[in-house]
Amino acid sequence: MATRIGIGLLGLGTVGAGVAAILNNPKDRHPLIGDLQIARVAVRDLNRSRPVELDPSLLTTDPQEVVDDANVHVVVEVMGGLEPARTLIMRAIAAGKSVVTANKAVIARHGEEIAAAAAAAGVYVLIEAAVGGGIPIIEPLKQSLGGNRIQRVSGIINGTTNYILSRMAHEGANYQSVLKDAQELGYAEADPAADVDGLDAADKIAILSGLAFGGPIDRSGIPTAGISNLQSRDVDYATQLDYGVKLLAVAERVEDDEGDNDKTSLPLAVRVQPTLVPSDHPLAGVNGVNNAILVEGDPIGRVMFYGPGAGAGPTASAVVADILNIAGIRQLDDSDGNLDPLLAASSWRACHLVNSSQIRQRNYVRFTTDDAPGVIGRIGSCFGDQGVSIQSIVQFDPTDAAAEIVVITHEVSNGAMKSALEAITALPEVRGIAAHLGCL
Ligand code: NAP
Ligand code: HSE
Repeated sequence: MATRIGIGLLGLGTVGAGVAAILNNPKDRHPLIGDLQIARVAVRDLNRSRPVELDPSLLTTDPQEVVDDANVHVVVEVMGGLEPARTLIMRAIAAGKSVVTANKAVIARHGEEIAAAAAAAGVYVLIEAAVGGGIPIIEPLKQSLGGNRIQRVSGIINGTTNYILSRMAHEGANYQSVLKDAQELGYAEADPAADVDGLDAADKIAILSGLAFGGPIDRSGIPTAGISNLQSRDVDYATQLDYGVKLLAVAERVEDDEGDNDKTSLPLAVRVQPTLVPSDHPLAGVNGVNNAILVEGDPIGRVMFYGPGAGAGPTASAVVADILNIAGIRQLDDSDGNLDPLLAASSWRACHLVNSSQIRQRNYVRFTTDDAPGVIGRIGSCFGDQGVSIQSIVQFDPTDAAAEIVVITHEVSNGAMKSALEAITALPEVRGIAAHLGCL
């Protein structure tokens, strides 16, 4: 006969309430859900009204009580933030309890420490909800794609910014009011700067990179730009040039051109930035809160994972899947002290970020210049001098006697691009760089 498995929820906000709603209503879902029982729940405010019905005696404002409760077998951390979340996860591991977390901020920064502690304690820490909301991407990277040599993982991995960009592009909606909608819909982080400044996407690409390439990277070294400085004018110009603008995160294997690097460490180029996407590219049709992750590997080629990237239901779906994985193993009751190596997933190699000047990509740049003869030619010469090949150069309507010149380059290193831009901004006719985005 199956034993009940006690679930301790750290948090009953958007995601926690979504998880409780599934566990409260097991009918027609996986039979193991019927064996899961919410045993204790930590919140900040006992009096806040909740969208799920729970016995009020289960609630506490002391999250340690949840971790320490003898009836809690699996700890589900959905409170967010770095602390006390990290300490509570470590405490649960030390108590021999498996953990499920949606907290990409903690995993991107402390994942190595947490994974090592979990391996030593013989427990699992599962993180499917930390990237891509409801999209299964963590377990596929750990298990289903394990036979591949991954070359590149890229995509749209922040629902809030994709929702904002889609509504701005399709409805001409105002940035601030759409951000407010995203917060009300439960998509945004507690501090939405994490979304709009690209930090959440950087956390997620750090996690995906670690799984895809088999080793952690330095989260703080990821070049990151968000959408808070993106101007609607660039979205309009991109549309006229047959592109959409998406906040893209990329992690790829590259050569490291700097001679003295450690040959045993895998060089990676990782970045987050607003990027022009050709309108016929698969990522161009990913709109609203949806996310999409492209994984390119040998021999599979390219696969795309697509679906809702944030929100209560989709994220709770991923959390409950992780709980079920742990519950399934507990129900087998054949624990020999060894963890399932695919589910636990641990590093097998060193990886390092290459210097960002070595990152190669196409670029979109908008210059404001005097509306003077010959300026386009001089800009072109500066690019040519640095070996930067231009795909297109277009002058848009001048305003107040200033011209707007938009350049799309072929693929070039960030170092060469930086040198060309320094030379261009030194030209007397050039007033400045109004925008610099990536381009697929
Ligand atoms: P949220 O709505 O702000 O909920 C946070 C919950 O944690 C609230 O119930 C809050 O209590 C409780 N809490 C926070 N600090 C606490 C403390 N010190 N002691 C006790 N309780 C505390 O956040 P969320 O959107 O559910 O996100 C939770 C986590 O999931 C975050 O790591 C987030 O990045 C991640 N995530 C979210 C989504 C999404 O779509 N929202 C998707 C994927 C991953 P009160 O309710 O009393 O304030
Ligand atoms: N704030 C995050 C987003 C939640 O918008 O993608 C899902 O991780």
